[in-house]
Amino acid sequence: MNAAHKPRVLVTREVFDETLDYLRRHCEVLANQDDVPYAPEALAAAVADRDGLMCCLTDRVDAALLAAAPNLKAVANIAVGYNNIDVPACTARGVMATNTPGVLDDSTADLAWALMLGTARRITEVERRVRAGEWTGWQLKQWLGVDVHHATLGIIGMGRIGQAIARRASGFEMKVIYHNRNRIAPELERRCNAAYVSFDELLAQADFVVLQMPYNPQTHHLIGAAQLEKMKRSAILINSTRGGVVDDAALVQALRDGTIRGAGLDVFENEPKLNPGFLKLDNVVLAPHIGSSTEATRKAMAMLAAQNLVAALTGGKPPNLLNPGV
Ligand code: GLV
Repeated sequence: MNAAHKPRVLVTREVFDETLDYLRRHCEVLANQDDVPYAPEALAAAVADRDGLMCCLTDRVDAALLAAAPNLKAVANIAVGYNNIDVPACTARGVMATNTPGVLDDSTADLAWALMLGTARRITEVERRVRAGEWTGWQLKQWLGVDVHHATLGIIGMGRIGQAIARRASGFEMKVIYHNRNRIAPELERRCNAAYVSFDELLAQADFVVLQMPYNPQTHHLIGAAQLEKMKRSAILINSTRGGVVDDAALVQALRDGTIRGAGLDVFENEPKLNPGFLKLDNVVLAPHIGSSTEATRKAMAMLAAQNLVAALTGGKPPNLLNPGV
């Protein structure tokens, strides 16, 4: 195909060489391998003559951006969550939107577990003490944590990632309860060894409350002061899904007051500018939104996004189309 006839795409952030190689076989590519995030106006200018956009959760794709890109036919997000994309606005303009489900489930579930274990056993707190030279020797009552094994794991949001988190609990002989908009199929409940409970029952019973639902207006501040009050004082909260599902100011207060024991967080409101209150607390483990960040998984996500984009721009049906109405 003549290069002039190839669809024109913009890739908003750095991707792997193999991702670019694949895209370049099918498209004329404007890449941002320097990885300096586009400000909204710069993104609008860069996408103005493009047929396709490959973007990340740091890019806001809204009606204003779409209006600046009259040729745009497809937006491929390199993420499973797509709260950065106004999908109805895409649909209204006939723009296909895609995400990257499936390929990151296990890595994201592993990270949720890393946060559970890290928070329960105070790993980052004690590492700071060791590095500061504060470890003077073994003591019986030193930096006591809580057990993960045989505890009750409560998962809110029982999609593929929630289920992967639940399946991992069997080796720890945990009791698993979950809450979801809809109860999952009985055979999935059996595979996860998980029992459906109400939202309030989950908050009251779980030793570990793990959040894995998507972020949208309905889940904004799903966990705030009132919900933290309903949790056990010994409970640990894990947010490995999206900032905004937790009211971070209320969580800082609850961690400070001992309303709950601890929290393990991979995501924050207004990240990367997290609430400074977290930085002063020892009972919180902080990670910089790395849920899916293993080399294999990030490569798979980028390639899946590229395949979605190429399919959309070459007359195929993207495997992960979010708005089939287009
Ligand atoms: C990461 O946060 C994702 O949604 O894939």
